[in-house]
Amino acid sequence: MRVLRTAAAVRAARAELAPPVGLVPTMGALHEGHLSLLLRARGECGSLVASLFVNPAQFGPGEDFARYPRDEERDCRLFAEAGVDLLFAPALEEIYPSGHATTVAVTGAEERPEGRSRPGHFAGVATVVTVLLSLLAPDRAYFGEKDAQQLAVIGRLVRDLALPVEVVACATVREPDGLALSSRNVYLSVEGRRQALSLSAGLRAAEAAFAGGMRDAEQLRGLVSERVSSQPLAVLDYVSLADGEMRGEIEGAVSAEAVLSVAARVGGTRLIDNVRLRP
Ligand code: PAF
Repeated sequence: MRVLRTAAAVRAARAELAPPVGLVPTMGALHEGHLSLLLRARGECGSLVASLFVNPAQFGPGEDFARYPRDEERDCRLFAEAGVDLLFAPALEEIYPSGHATTVAVTGAEERPEGRSRPGHFAGVATVVTVLLSLLAPDRAYFGEKDAQQLAVIGRLVRDLALPVEVVACATVREPDGLALSSRNVYLSVEGRRQALSLSAGLRAAEAAFAGGMRDAEQLRGLVSERVSSQPLAVLDYVSLADGEMRGEIEGAVSAEAVLSVAARVGGTRLIDNVRLRP
C-alpha cells in the first residue's frame, strides 16, 4: 500500500491506477463498518483508494474534533490488510490550501433534522468530499447508509455538479445486539452502551409495526422516541420519517419508501441510526 500525503502526489499517482478506481473516504478510527466498505470496493474495483482525513470543517464549535479518536498506525495496518492500494492521508493544507475560500453547500441540507442539529456540518462534508473526488477522480465512491442524510447530500451534489462518479451505498453494519457501528461508540460507558441500544431497538420496533401494517408517520416516529426517551442517560435529538431521498418529513400515511432516522445523545455521546421502510 502506498501512503501519499500531498495533493500533487495523488494526482500524479491516479494515472497509474487500474480501472475502475474505488474510493472509500474515511476519517479513520476504522471499525467493521469501514472494513465492509473496503471489502465491497476491493471486490468491485480494479484499484482501491482510501482517504484518511479528520475534516475540521464538518465539526461545529463544541463538537468532538479535538478528541475524535485518531490512531494512524492502527488504521494504516487495517487499510493495508483490507487490500488498499493507495492511501491518501493529507495534512490540513493539502485539502484547504492557504486562501481556500470555497464552500460546497447543498440547498436544503440544513433544513432537514440532522443538518438543523449540526449547522455547517453538511457544507463541511460536501466541501471535503468534492475536493477528494476532484483530486482522486474515482469511478466509484463508497459510503455507509448509517449516515443517511450524508449519503443523500453526497448523491445530490454528485448529480447537481455532474461529477463522473458512481455513489455506492453500503448497508449499516451492526453489533450482534443491534448497535450500529460508529467511531464514536468508543466514548460510551458500559451503561451508556446498554442504553444506546434503545436507538436500534426503537427502529426495529417501528420496522416490525410497519411490516404489520402500521402506516401512520406520527405513530411510527412515536415508537422510536418512546424507547429512546425512556432511557435515563439518553437525550433525544430527533426522530424523523422522511421520503426515500430525505427531502422532507412525511406527515400522515407512509405510501412509498421512507427513511426512519433517530439521533440522541447518550451520556454525552451523539449517536445516529436509521432504517429504510419499504411498503
Ligand atoms: O463519513 C465520514 O467518515 C466523513 O463524513 C467523510 C465522508 C469521510 C467526509 O469527511
